[in-house]
Amino acid sequence: MTERRPLIAGNWKMNGLRADARRLAVEIGTLRQFKPDAAFDLLVCPPFTVLEAVSQMIENTGVYLGAQTCHVAEKGAHTGDISAAMVADSGCSHVILGHSERRTNHAETNDQVNAQAKAAHEQSLIAIICVGETEAERESGKALEVVAEQVKASVPDDSSYGNTVIAYEPVWAIGTGKVATPDDVQEVHANIRKVLAEKLGQEEADGIRILYGGSMKPENAKELLALGDVDGGLIGGASLKAEDFWAIAQSC
Ligand code: G3P
Repeated sequence: MTERRPLIAGNWKMNGLRADARRLAVEIGTLRQFKPDAAFDLLVCPPFTVLEAVSQMIENTGVYLGAQTCHVAEKGAHTGDISAAMVADSGCSHVILGHSERRTNHAETNDQVNAQAKAAHEQSLIAIICVGETEAERESGKALEVVAEQVKASVPDDSSYGNTVIAYEPVWAIGTGKVATPDDVQEVHANIRKVLAEKLGQEEADGIRILYGGSMKPENAKELLALGDVDGGLIGGASLKAEDFWAIAQSC
């Protein structure tokens, strides 16, 4: 079976003017250099405006760089949008797609996320496809079904463990301090892997990393990262402090 190397990814969201972003990137890069052979991958996903600055700060540290979304088109009349080619050209290896904040604030649909992921794959980017249920959906017992549907529709057929990562982020756990129970997280992750196996075959499903996101902190990371189908974390708030981000990574 393909080894799933844990991925600890920081989603900085809309945080970071150039000076702050440079400082944070240097701190994370420095921590990484203390332990270059650590058994996890580290990724930071800052806003577009500081990709270049962060890229310079993490050069040769082994920390990967990612963006937070991309457009489906390669170029053209799309004012304010950024293409996958531009993301790749900025030094990124990864791109987060279909985050619930994009699905809610920008009405992104599963079909759009699927097309974005294809565009990302064409530029040799690793697509981190986000899925997750709302609080109402969980309370009505529909979490597994909702997430399965998102995975089926958002993950393109050309996906493989080399170009795709899934992030399960229950919407109600994002930035709220509420965390899904380990049993619930494992149940959803195992079901995501089952859906991936039906869609892409067992080998790809066994190799695709499935991250958990939603109020992951140094205090709860160990328990979550120890779960059989949890292969890392997509971290928001705690990724803005280098020591917290590093402490989470050290829990792998
Ligand atoms: O993408 C990361 C995310 O939405 C989780 O955010 O602040 O709850 O760790 P946070």
